[in-house]
Amino acid sequence: MVLRSVWWDRNELPEVEPGRLSGEWDVIVVGAGITGVTTAALLARAGRSVALVEARRVGSGTTGGSTAKVSIQQGTHFSRIARRHRPSVLRSYAEANREGLAWLDRFCREHDVACEARTSYTYATTAKGRRSVRAELDALHAGGVAEAAWTDGPPLPFQTTGAVLLPDQRQVDPVALVAALAADARRHGAVVIEGDRVRRVHGRHPVRVRTEHGGASARTVVVATNMPILDRGGFFARATPQRSYSIAFRTDRPAVDGMFLSADGPTRSLRDADGGRLLLVGGDGHRTGAATSEQQHLESLRAWTHEHFPGAEETRAWSAQDYAPASGLPYVGPLLPGAEHLLVAGGYSKWGFTNGVAAALAVAGRLLDGHQPWASVFDPWATRRLTGLPGAALANGEVGLEMAGGWLRPLRPRPGSGPAEGAGRVRYDRPGRPTAAARVDGVERDLSAVCTHLGGVVRWNDAEHSWDCPLHGSRFDADGAVLEGPATCGLRRQRS
Ligand SMILES: Cc1cc2nc3c(=O)[nH]c(=O)nc-3n(C[C@H](O)[C@H](O)[C@H](O)COP(=O)(O)OP(=O)(O)OC[C@H]3O[C@@H](n4cnc5c(N)ncnc54)[C@H](O)[C@@H]3O)c2cc1C
Ligand code: FES
Repeated sequence: MVLRSVWWDRNELPEVEPGRLSGEWDVIVVGAGITGVTTAALLARAGRSVALVEARRVGSGTTGGSTAKVSIQQGTHFSRIARRHRPSVLRSYAEANREGLAWLDRFCREHDVACEARTSYTYATTAKGRRSVRAELDALHAGGVAEAAWTDGPPLPFQTTGAVLLPDQRQVDPVALVAALAADARRHGAVVIEGDRVRRVHGRHPVRVRTEHGGASARTVVVATNMPILDRGGFFARATPQRSYSIAFRTDRPAVDGMFLSADGPTRSLRDADGGRLLLVGGDGHRTGAATSEQQHLESLRAWTHEHFPGAEETRAWSAQDYAPASGLPYVGPLLPGAEHLLVAGGYSKWGFTNGVAAALAVAGRLLDGHQPWASVFDPWATRRLTGLPGAALANGEVGLEMAGGWLRPLRPRPGSGPAEGAGRVRYDRPGRPTAAARVDGVERDLSAVCTHLGGVVRWNDAEHSWDCPLHGSRFDADGAVLEGPATCGLRRQRS
């Protein structure tokens, strides 16, 4: 059961037939989220022959499930970067995001895509949160975001302890935006193939790409799958997959004036849509595959909204995930040092609309001999990344524990007690072959519980009826097909 975001209701896009990648190209871009479609559009405009290949459909990854605030002010992310890096890194990060926002705003104006101006707020509700928000204001100023200011009274219908604000930011409909970007790429000669999953990328001159239905070669391949699908480079060990929830509510008058994110936990994100007729509430995030019950996270978001916005009527609920690198900085550049034929981009810590566009500008600059002074902060192999190592080691330690825990967790099968409708569980009744057993729509399925990426043991997600891997965030539907994450093959059927 895929929980589809409200954006897919607003954009009634025609169904697409699965395509097949073939031919020889200057550049193959893998993944059609905000990063991939912007990269394809930029390179096609510059006259490169470009194929953009997408496993599902344009925008169907994190981009289409996003709340799509386009903002330089990003919760408490600037102070997170400031704790790990020099002020010059902070300034370059701000510059990258400024350029991403300006490019996206210009694109929207030129292509008639709605891009609404809003003030962005990070607010606090406790004394501790107030100190975090104060630190965020200092970090924004240190990063050169001089327009950021303090307010004791952000316009919210509940008590706060202050907020930092940044005027003149933007919000978009992400599905409408990526559809327009893909149309622009096509107009400039790019070929967009949907419904063909890349399985393998190998070779150098040229690089060969093998997909579910075909294959092709290119001088350069850009892997824009958020978490790179290729194991080389070890990106999966540098970033944590973070799943979070969103609910759309219909309100009889605009419920909020601005875009809001709480500094205190559990995180609460607010914005409007449809000219104020919809209130979007997000938050309650956790590491993918690590929740006791995903459904409970959705319920807690629901309960919070009913308490603070009584009368709001729910229209849609969904969930999505993004990757948070230990360094706090996106990774944009070669998969391995010096490998300019194979580039990756992702890891935006839930701020992909400015960062993803900046990443596309950086990739295009790299391939077209352009130069953005700020782009070096995204370099995945810069020595400053070492400052993120303690966090990465911690994240890897958690992964190691998950790995061992998943394999060793002794759950004795209860004879005759299959999972209830909508439930799933991992059985360990065969040595070394854990079974993922679930019942959905009356059908019980037994799959291998071993994630096809690097062998983690998957867990049942009771909100979306999927198997989620706690290691690097691969997700599979109840039939075992890949939904998202670095895995490129589905869970195998477990033979009796
Ligand atoms: C709940 C939530 C709310 C968010 N809100 C905001 C916000 O308000 N503002 C903001 O700036 N950011 C926000 N973000 C973050 C932002 O949405 C992401 O950072 C951004 O969309 C990532 O874009 P992407 O193109 O890198 O990845 P994706 O959108 O995930 O695109 C990657 C694409 O690659 C495809 N793919 C994967 N594997 C393969 C393969 N093997 N072959 C072919 N294709 C493949 C996928 O199907 C997918 O379409 C939010 C994130 C979440 C989870
Ligand atoms: S996602 Fe890497 S092992 Fe499952």
